[in-house]
Amino acid sequence: MTKIEQKYQHTPVLLKEVLEYLQPCPGQNFVDATLGGGGYTAAIANLIAPEGGILSIDLDEDAINNFQFLISNFQTNPKLKNHNEKNIILHQGNFRDLDKIIKQHEFPPPDGIVADLGLSSYELERRGISFQTEQPLDMRFDQSQELTAKFILQSYDENRLRKIFEDYGEEKFSRRIVKKILETRDKGQETRTTNELYQIIANALPKPVKHKADDSARRIFQALRIEVNHELENLEEFLPKAFALLKTGGRLVVITFHSLEDRMVKQFFAGLAKGCVCPPEFPQCLCGRNPQAKILTKKPLAATEAELRRNPRARPAKLRAAIKL
Ligand SMILES: C[S@@+](CC[C@H](N)C(=O)[O-])C[C@H]1O[C@@H](n2cnc3c(N)ncnc32)[C@H](O)[C@@H]1O
Repeated sequence: MTKIEQKYQHTPVLLKEVLEYLQPCPGQNFVDATLGGGGYTAAIANLIAPEGGILSIDLDEDAINNFQFLISNFQTNPKLKNHNEKNIILHQGNFRDLDKIIKQHEFPPPDGIVADLGLSSYELERRGISFQTEQPLDMRFDQSQELTAKFILQSYDENRLRKIFEDYGEEKFSRRIVKKILETRDKGQETRTTNELYQIIANALPKPVKHKADDSARRIFQALRIEVNHELENLEEFLPKAFALLKTGGRLVVITFHSLEDRMVKQFFAGLAKGCVCPPEFPQCLCGRNPQAKILTKKPLAATEAELRRNPRARPAKLRAAIKL
């Protein structure tokens, strides 16, 4: 186990709303697919105590170690006032493997599953994910993974880089930015740090939009982070597995932080909620298809003004929830 040099920092987003939609009750079982700082896990654990169980997963070993430490000091930890230590299972792994993880722990079919996507403040501040602080270009949630942002910049070809920046960052100056990255490479220079990448992006922009370098950098950094951590592929595999594993009447709650993820969740829920797909001219239904889920959030929920004042990082968050029929 690696030592955590500093306490894991993360303010949970939309916590009250997550609990409203999950409705945890004593004796029920839940999966927190993204433990992070453990804000959701601690709150759910208290509500399902003493008999209920929670299985909490994170790719990041630091998140797991931090929460393990909190559990072992639970008597002095007001966040975990009620819970039964044995009923919180921590698992370092990828939520895309949820089926295997549940099987491995012989965890019962869950009453609810929550995934709060993206990254924690702890990761944002120390993994080279933000251009606001000078750090090596790492971006990995799972520190044992080989692929880093630096490797991508050093080795992906022009088309692949452009595709990532366009698809995951929706950056319209992708072509110019990729050209600058390749020029830097051709000079035998490595792009190693957040500041070095920021400078490349700023230099690539045409003069009239140079003052918007922060906006382009935000999009390019986001695109690299999504690629490094395979964020969209993970979500695509996770959603059907999570839904299949839920008990009938179980609830799936997903919090997203960018439009690509939100679109995926929205379309997934819409597909489940769809009933008959026969053409309207059919006098009666021949497909026999019934809705598998009821969507609980017609529109995605966002943080209130009061929450945003306390935690501005909640601004992009969107919550969608569905119940399995
Ligand atoms: C926004 S934070 C979760 C915060 C948490 N809800 C809380 O209240 O503290 C997202 C977490 O998900 C983890 N994560 C991202 N992708 C993951 C994946 N595919 N599998 C497991 N964990 C993942 C990140 O390492 C990070 O710790």
